[in-house]
Amino acid sequence: MPFETAKAKPALSLESSPGASAYLAIRDLIYRTSGIYHPNEGLSVLITRCAHRMAAVGAASPLEYLEHLTTRPNRAAELRLLLNEITVSETYLFRYPAQLDALRNVILPQILQIKGFVGPKCLRFWCAGCSTGKEPHTLAMFLLEEKERLLSGWTWDILATDLNDNSLETAGAGIYAEHALRATSDGMRRKYFKDVGDKKLQANDLLRAQIRFDRVNLSDDSQMLFQKRVDVIFCRNVLIYFDPASKRRVVQHFYSNLLPGGFLFLGCDESLFHEDDSFRLVHFSGATAYWKPAAAQAVGGRQ
Ligand SMILES: C[S@@+](CC[C@H](N)C(=O)[O-])C[C@H]1O[C@@H](n2cnc3c(N)ncnc32)[C@H](O)[C@@H]1O
Repeated sequence: MPFETAKAKPALSLESSPGASAYLAIRDLIYRTSGIYHPNEGLSVLITRCAHRMAAVGAASPLEYLEHLTTRPNRAAELRLLLNEITVSETYLFRYPAQLDALRNVILPQILQIKGFVGPKCLRFWCAGCSTGKEPHTLAMFLLEEKERLLSGWTWDILATDLNDNSLETAGAGIYAEHALRATSDGMRRKYFKDVGDKKLQANDLLRAQIRFDRVNLSDDSQMLFQKRVDVIFCRNVLIYFDPASKRRVVQHFYSNLLPGGFLFLGCDESLFHEDDSFRLVHFSGATAYWKPAAAQAVGGRQ
């Protein structure tokens, strides 16, 4: 039998794709709605994801699918389903432990000291772009572990939001496969999770009760204006999908959402370099965070 050499599959690209202008219009629609930007070299990902939705609605061409997104009566629902399809949801429990160390050793003591003088002893955390909920569940475990120590006498509220309905559903159920718990200690598993079979663990009631999940689109100004008086925001590995202009807008909202003295955590490989000069970059052991100066210390920054 003659040996056949495998033919490389040509990569999907704008040039090779029929309906290129329809895909560009879909790309722009996604960008205007969510801030997520697919550069030309990343368009094959968008084309593949659109193919799933085109098959689901029976659209015969990208142009027909564009009509589903823009002129058909169910266009808003279809756009939401497409956004569920295109967002990247990779996350796991106890990602970036150095950020938790910074929270325990420096950030929370500093915030508790400032807030201890005024108002109720309540802290507000926001996981923006929480995906399937592993980030807020990690934060909830961390706070519960500090309940009798650092946080004695304090209460807290954790808001966890995302754009993706499917991720939020998983987040609410708190059921995770073994792989998601790869960085979670046996002690934490025993204390905060129960075995639900099929090699999966579910966050117990105590843990799940700590978190309020909601759908918030970070590019929706009206929703962003609504989040107020937050002490610490986590927005990790979300803005990497945004272009500089939409990222800047979200970061400016975060600045307003935070109380003076509050902190913003990004993913470990992200920065606001050249994109925002209101926040101050603070270095910790193995982590960085962005600080909104407390009123008396703000020099030149917005308040
Ligand atoms: C890679 S996950 C990051 C999860 C988690 N923060 C972490 O670092 O482990 C990115 C998340 O950002 C969400 N996202 C992307 N654009 C968004 C937007 N405009 N509004 C809200 N969430 C968004 C996606 O749905 C996805 O769940």
